[in-house]
Amino acid sequence: MKTDTPQTIYLKDYTPPAWLVDTVDLDVSIEADGTVVSATQTLRRNPAVADQPLVLDGEELETLAVSVDGREHPYLASATSLTLNDLPASCTLRTVVRIQPDNNTRLSGMYRSKDGYFTQCEAQGFRRITWFMDRPDVMSTYTVTLHADRATFPVLLANGNPVASGDEANGRHWATWADPFRKPAYLFALVAGKLDVLRDTFRTASGREVQLAIYVEPGKLDQCPHAMAALKKSMKWDEERFGLECDLDHYMIVAVGDFNMGAMENKGLNIFNTKYVLARPDVATDVDFENIDRVVAHEYFHNWTGNRVTCRDWFQLSLKEGLTVFRDQEFGADLHNRQTARIREVRGLRAAQFPEDAGPMAHPIRPESFVEINNFYTATVYEKGAEVIRMIQTLIGRDAFRAGMDEYFRRHDGQAVTCEDFVAAMAAASGFDFTQFMRWYRQPGTPRIAADGFWDADSASYTLTLSQSNPRASDDAPYLIPVRVALFAADGRLLPGSERLLQLSASSQSFVFENVAEEPVPSLLRDFSAPVYLDFDDTPEQLTVLLAHESDPFNAWEAGQRLATRLILAASTEIAAGRTPVWPASFVDAARQLLQSHAERGAAFVAEALTLPGETTLAELISVVDPDALHAARNSLSRHLAEQLENEFAGLYASLTVSEAYTPSSEHAGRRALRNLCLSYLVEFDGEAVRELAFKQFREADNMTDQFAALAALANINAADCRQRDSALAEFYARWQDEALVVDKWLQVQSTSRRPDTLATVKALTAHPAFDLGNPNKIYALIRAFGANLVRFNAADGSGYAFMAEQILALHDRNPQVASRLARCFDRWKKFDAGRQAHAQAALRRVRDHQGLSRDVLEVVTRALG
Ligand code: ARG
Ligand code: ZN
Repeated sequence: MKTDTPQTIYLKDYTPPAWLVDTVDLDVSIEADGTVVSATQTLRRNPAVADQPLVLDGEELETLAVSVDGREHPYLASATSLTLNDLPASCTLRTVVRIQPDNNTRLSGMYRSKDGYFTQCEAQGFRRITWFMDRPDVMSTYTVTLHADRATFPVLLANGNPVASGDEANGRHWATWADPFRKPAYLFALVAGKLDVLRDTFRTASGREVQLAIYVEPGKLDQCPHAMAALKKSMKWDEERFGLECDLDHYMIVAVGDFNMGAMENKGLNIFNTKYVLARPDVATDVDFENIDRVVAHEYFHNWTGNRVTCRDWFQLSLKEGLTVFRDQEFGADLHNRQTARIREVRGLRAAQFPEDAGPMAHPIRPESFVEINNFYTATVYEKGAEVIRMIQTLIGRDAFRAGMDEYFRRHDGQAVTCEDFVAAMAAASGFDFTQFMRWYRQPGTPRIAADGFWDADSASYTLTLSQSNPRASDDAPYLIPVRVALFAADGRLLPGSERLLQLSASSQSFVFENVAEEPVPSLLRDFSAPVYLDFDDTPEQLTVLLAHESDPFNAWEAGQRLATRLILAASTEIAAGRTPVWPASFVDAARQLLQSHAERGAAFVAEALTLPGETTLAELISVVDPDALHAARNSLSRHLAEQLENEFAGLYASLTVSEAYTPSSEHAGRRALRNLCLSYLVEFDGEAVRELAFKQFREADNMTDQFAALAALANINAADCRQRDSALAEFYARWQDEALVVDKWLQVQSTSRRPDTLATVKALTAHPAFDLGNPNKIYALIRAFGANLVRFNAADGSGYAFMAEQILALHDRNPQVASRLARCFDRWKKFDAGRQAHAQAALRRVRDHQGLSRDVLEVVTRALG
């Protein structure tokens, strides 16, 4: 039984706002019985739109007063709207509301967390603070005054610049902030709390000094320097790569432990999940350090791509997110290791976005409708969106892309615009015709390219025929797809002149390479030039040539992944039929050569190349997935490599030790990654010696990367009794129980374990004092990570599904956004056998039929069942 009928909102229904808000003056008083928000807005009718009443959005507001131009004015209030008729063409509206941030468990709007009050307004949280036209195309200048108890909330922050502050009666104080930039309400932020601060400054290219500050929970200052360094590097990088300077006098980052998402780009006052700020070598891994670089950069880059130029409506979300992810990817690649950065991006895309695009929540990067916008902060809008931007750069080249960015800001600075506006600026700067390319914005689904090559000895020519299709698209018109190609000789030489960027624009198209004197080995989609599936019948011999010799590191890696994928999928079929898989010696030889080449090819690359494709990615390639057989097949290949290459793994493990003091540099991180990969292969023979080896590393590591890798290796040991595993888990918790982010790792290493008893462990952990249903990070680490554990979540008896349904129902009211993310764990339920499907369907129906189910979850489960 549904209690509300959720409304679907359509892009085609967009109309501009009937009123404009020039200024907003907020007075926010944090008091014992709630927070009182007085808002004064100067309004005028939008001259471009016919007269309409003023309709403001609101949610969970207790309205205390409404006046227009200083006088009472009649109004109509519903739970979610405030309507005023008969207003003069311009007027000043004052509303006073009381809100209850202490009871705000949704973490949208203003809410309480341990050390104070914080806000999250994207997408529609501002309406939970005051009555407002809560839409991104209403841009205003804000002034904010905060009042609170001085001892409990010594730090009072809002967007912009500090104007004045002082004391009040009863031990209270106040502070006024003014933001000189017009902004949409979703970029509003305030903070009141007890926080420590790390300060620094940055001088921009034109010589302005920006005051930088990172605010964190008391006692955590020693975990801030990395984020501060990342911020300064981002500021410099954006000047150098895109000529974009910081426009602010103050740039503040505040870290909060309770946060639904990663971070938020509020103008001048970013609010971050602690996960993307806090780091110290003993508590954060190499991956954490790199993620912090990327997320700090991402939010900083939004200041131009998102804040200076924002979105007209929420359908345009990828305008800012796809572009900003592309920018943070490029920054990360420049800062660390371009080769492995690209490999990891594609690994992530295949593990999350490709499944999304094949499942019930599939949507174009610019969706055409939604029920709940928070459900569309997705891998598609973000990561596929970034791939679309990358393809634009690939098609027109880096210089034209930069000119297009310049043109975009020249045209649209200070505006709220659409994806078309962005592409039009790129077209104007490059002369490129993007008409056909726009299909990437409008269609869901991952296109497939089928490739076929023919070498003609007589004419010394090679003809490559590419055909495209996308069964998920609404019609079969072709995309414009950039396909980077090169040809290699059988001995691994790059054939001169064969490196080309093909533009596949027809459903089927042939490309001829001349002067190809020998049968070539084609390397297609180099650098993953488009987010597609490639169907090509390359032989194992051809793939082995590419793995060893391809100069594009992405495609060298890809060749190894294709080889491994075929072997694992074939083995999975064998295992399902009760047979034992046999592994070819050629694959082991290729792996051995990779290990031997780590000095030349880089340890980080070799670690990526020897990481087998993940089960979730592999499952997408099978029509009916048998998760047990797939899991067994992948493990069997790992085990086989471990047996065949034991000496190599043991030797490298011994020799790759980093003896210098810890730094998260890509060179050191690469060595650690490869050494820990060797460890993970070695533990495939579970024996006392290797358990001791892992346990010794766990105990002696002076950094979290190595300590955690050892813990993960032990946590995956299948044997019912493993003394070292139990001790390591117990010691890890005892040592780190006061570091919330490390406790998350402890939860996650257990929820992602391949052990058969993982669900029982996860259930037990939901009752552990370390777990907290009020903290999104804990839920993501324990529950959502379990939902991504293919073999354990999809247990044949449906126990994983039933558990997940319970968790969703426990959470949906308290925090709909996070509950809805859990519901996404069911996305691929139709890929499994009838027995599993029946269990999943029952679990989904139980959720859907729950009385009063939140709109967020309802949209996801309705689509899943549909
Ligand atoms: N704009 C933020 C970022 O990508 C994400 C905010 C998402 N918030 C939400 N409630 N869906 O940096
Ligand atoms: Zn973003």
